[in-house]
Amino acid sequence: MYGFFLFLLLPLFTNPVSSSSSSPDRFTKSLPSSLLRHKTQEYFELGRPLPFDHLIPSCSRRVLTHCFANTINGPPFSTKYSPPRSDCSSPWSHVALELRAKCKGEQYDRIAGLWLGGAELLRTSTAEPTKKGIFWKVRKDITKYSSLLVRSDLNLTMMLENVVDRVFTGVYRVEVHFLYYKEYVAVSEPRVSSIIADQTFNSNFGEKLGIVADEPADLIIPISDTGDRGLWFRIESESDFHAKQIRIPRNTRRVVLELYVSFHGNDEFWYSNPPSLYITTNNITTGRGNGAYREVFVTVDGEMVGSEVPFPVVFTGGINPLFWEPVVAIGAFNLPSYDLELTPFLGKLLDGKVHSFGIGVTDGISYWLVDANLHIWLDHRSKTVQAKSSTFAFPATEVKRNAQFKQLDGSFKIKAQRRSDFVGWVKSSSGNHTTTFSQKYKFTSSISFEKNGTYKLVNQRVKSERDVKVVNEKGAVVLRTSVRRRYPLNVITAILPGSKKGTYLLVTNVTHSMKEKNLHGGYLSRVYNSQDSRGWMEVKDHSVLSGTANTRQSFGYRDEFGCYSRAIGAIDGSLIRDNTTFHCLSAS
Ligand SMILES: *[C@@H]1O[C@H](CO)[C@@H](O)[C@H](O)[C@H]1NC(C)=O
Ligand SMILES: *[C@@H]1O[C@H](CO)[C@@H](O)[C@H](O)[C@H]1NC(C)=O
Ligand SMILES: *[C@@H]1O[C@H](CO)[C@@H](O)[C@H](O)[C@H]1NC(C)=O
Ligand SMILES: *[C@@H]1O[C@H](CO)[C@@H](O)[C@H](O)[C@H]1NC(C)=O
Ligand SMILES: *[C@@H]1O[C@H](CO)[C@@H](O)[C@H](O)[C@H]1NC(C)=O
Ligand SMILES: *[C@@H]1O[C@H](CO)[C@@H](O)[C@H](O)[C@H]1NC(C)=O
Repeated sequence: MYGFFLFLLLPLFTNPVSSSSSSPDRFTKSLPSSLLRHKTQEYFELGRPLPFDHLIPSCSRRVLTHCFANTINGPPFSTKYSPPRSDCSSPWSHVALELRAKCKGEQYDRIAGLWLGGAELLRTSTAEPTKKGIFWKVRKDITKYSSLLVRSDLNLTMMLENVVDRVFTGVYRVEVHFLYYKEYVAVSEPRVSSIIADQTFNSNFGEKLGIVADEPADLIIPISDTGDRGLWFRIESESDFHAKQIRIPRNTRRVVLELYVSFHGNDEFWYSNPPSLYITTNNITTGRGNGAYREVFVTVDGEMVGSEVPFPVVFTGGINPLFWEPVVAIGAFNLPSYDLELTPFLGKLLDGKVHSFGIGVTDGISYWLVDANLHIWLDHRSKTVQAKSSTFAFPATEVKRNAQFKQLDGSFKIKAQRRSDFVGWVKSSSGNHTTTFSQKYKFTSSISFEKNGTYKLVNQRVKSERDVKVVNEKGAVVLRTSVRRRYPLNVITAILPGSKKGTYLLVTNVTHSMKEKNLHGGYLSRVYNSQDSRGWMEVKDHSVLSGTANTRQSFGYRDEFGCYSRAIGAIDGSLIRDNTTFHCLSAS
C-alpha cells in the first residue's frame, strides 16, 4: 500500500493472471497528457446539503492549516483550538466543519482523521491528484460535538497518512474551517432543543411525538489512542483488540457510542477477499484473504455490546480510479459513523469505577483504523442516577460458509445474521425510563471466479436494523428511533491481456448503494444513494495507463418537510449531466 509495501508487491503484478485473485486493487492515474484535464478540477461527493447551508454563519474560523507530505509513520499534526468569543460565543444553533483540500502531482488516495480533544469529528479520504491539480471540499454538521467545541483547552489533531518520494509527489494541502451559526432553521429540522427525558409525550407510536431532541451530549469521552501515528487504533489481525479504561459520571442518564472505522492494506477490499485456502492452494502471492466477512465489535468489560458490518466505502484509487472522478464513491469524503445505544448498560457503568471499552474486528486482517466517542448526557438536577441492566441477549453471530473451488475457479458463499436485545432502566430526576436497544442484521456474500480465475464476481448484501425504544413508568413510549440501512454491492472484473508487454486490461462494473430509512421521534426520513460505474483500464503495475469510465449516480432525500434529489452522469472525468431538484417527485 505504501512505497515500501508496493515495492514488495510488484513482482506479483508483472503476471496478469496471477493478480486475478487480488483484484480489485488500488491504483494511481499515470495517464498520458491527452487524458489529463486542462485545468484544476473540483471533486465532490454527492450528498444532501446541510439543512442550514442557506443561513449566514455568525462567524467562521480557520482552525487548521497544514501540508501533509511524507507523514506516514509520523505523529499527527496538532494545533490549539479555541472557540470564538464575544458575539459569536456559544450557544450556537449549529456548527459546521468545512475541510478544503488540494493536491497536485501523482499520489494515491490517502486516509485521514480529524479529532478534537481526542474525539473524532471526521473520517475522510483524499481524491487522487492530476498533474494540473485538483481540489475539493467536505462539509459536515458537527453540532453534536458542541460540548468539545466550547472548550479552549483542547488540541485539534489531524492525521493524513501520506508518502512522498520521487515517484509519489502529491502533497495534500488541507484547511479546516468551523462555521458557527446562531440562527435556527425554521421548520425543516427535527433538531430543536428539548431533552426527551424532560418532556412528556403522547405515547401512541405513529402519531407525532412532538419535537424530539437531539440536544448535543453534555460530555464526550474519546475511546481513541494517544497517537504517535494518529489517534485511531490500528487493528492488524482478528486477535488484535484495543481497549480504553473510562470512568462514567454517576449522574449519566444516557450514553451513545459513536464508532468510526475504515479498512486498508489487505482488508481495503475485504468484501472481495476469497478464503485463505484458495490463495494457499493456488500458490497466489497475496495477503488479501481470510474470506469476505468482517464485523467490527464493541465490548464493555469484555462483554459484547454491539457490532457493525461496515458500509463498503471504495476509496478513489480503488477498483478503477477513473470511476471516481470528479464524483467520488459513496462515503469516500465523509465516511459513515455508527451509533450504538449503550444506555441499557448504565446499570453496570454508574458504580464510579473504571470500565474497559474495547473495539475489535472479527476476521480482520491488516489493517483497520477504528476509534469511538462516548456521547454522555447528564442529569443536571442530581449527583447520582440509579440504573439497572435487565436483559442482555447477544447470541453469537451465525455464520454459514460454503466454499467450492477447483484450481483458480470456484464459488464462495457466506451468510451471517445476528439479533441482539438489551434492556435496562434509568431513574433520573425526570423519571424512571426503560430503554430497549435492538440490533439486527443480515449479511450475504457471494464471490465467484471463472475463466481460470480471470473473471471475478462479487455480490454483497447487508441489511441492518437498529431500534431504540424508551418507555416511562406507566409503560408509555416516550421515544422511539429506528435506523434501517441496506447496502448492496456488486463488482464484476474481467482481466484480459494488455496491448503491451507487462500490461493488462481490467474491465470492471461496480454498482453500490446506500438506502436508509430513519425514524426519529415520529419523524421519518429516507435516503437513497446509488452509484453505477462501468469501464475499463489498461494497467501496468499499479499505474493506470489509459481507459474509459462512465459513472451514473442518483441521490435522493425525503422527509416530512421536503425533498432533495440530484442525479449526475460522468464520462472520463467530465460531468455530462447534473440535475438537482427540491421537488418531491414520486414516492421513493
Ligand atoms: C497539544 O499538542 C501539543 C503539541 O503536540 C502537546 O504538547 C500538548 O500536550 C497537547 N495538549 C493537549 C491538551 O493534549
Ligand atoms: C504450489 O506449490 C507447491 C510447492 O511448491 C507445488 O507442489 C504445487 O503443485 C503448487 N500448486 C499449484 C496449483 O501451482
Ligand atoms: C424502574 O422501572 C422498572 C421497570 O418498570 C422497575 O423494575 C424498577 O424497579 C424501577 N426502579 C425504581 C428505582 O423505581
Ligand atoms: C490457468 O492459470 C494458471 C496460473 O496462471 C496457469 O498456469 C494455467 O496454465 C492456466 N490454465 C489455463 C487452462 O489457461
Ligand atoms: C458490465 O455491464 C455491461 C452492461 O450491462 C455488460 O455489457 C458488460 O459485460 C459488463 N462487464 C463485465 C466485465 O461483466
Ligand atoms: C435534467 O435536466 C435536463 C435539462 O434541464 C432535462 O431535460 C432533464 O429532463 C432533466 N432530467 C431529470 C431526470 O430531471
